[in-house]
Amino acid sequence: MIEIMLSLQEQEPEVYKDETLQVLLLAGTDTTSTTMEWAMSLLLNHPQVLHKAQAEIYAVVGQNRLTRGELFKTAIIQH
Ligand code: HEM
Repeated sequence: MIEIMLSLQEQEPEVYKDETLQVLLLAGTDTTSTTMEWAMSLLLNHPQVLHKAQAEIYAVVGQNRLTRGELFKTAIIQH
């Protein structure tokens, strides 16, 4: 992520200023980790939904790694 932002800054320094990248990094990290923490906590407290989501992921990606394209094919995760 930082690598991508820095390469964008090299291409368009007037758009991707240091301050802009810092704000994006700060605004994006805590919100994302809190969201993940809540999602995991809710899944652990609702095992029937966890098993449904697991079954759906196995059906779409099998034993491979989940790609972004496949993520959008999973009905539960979209909600
Ligand atoms: C679940 C994740 C997130 C939540 C709940 C969330 C929530 C919010 C909220 C409530 C605001 C204020 C909107 C307003 O008052 O107008 C905001 C603004 C903002 N968020 Fe997020 N955010 C999330 C993820 C992110 C991520 C991943 C990024 C960047 C990579 C980001 C960047 C920003 C920025 C730059 C602003 C300021 C926008 C502006 O003032 O024009 N946020 N976010």
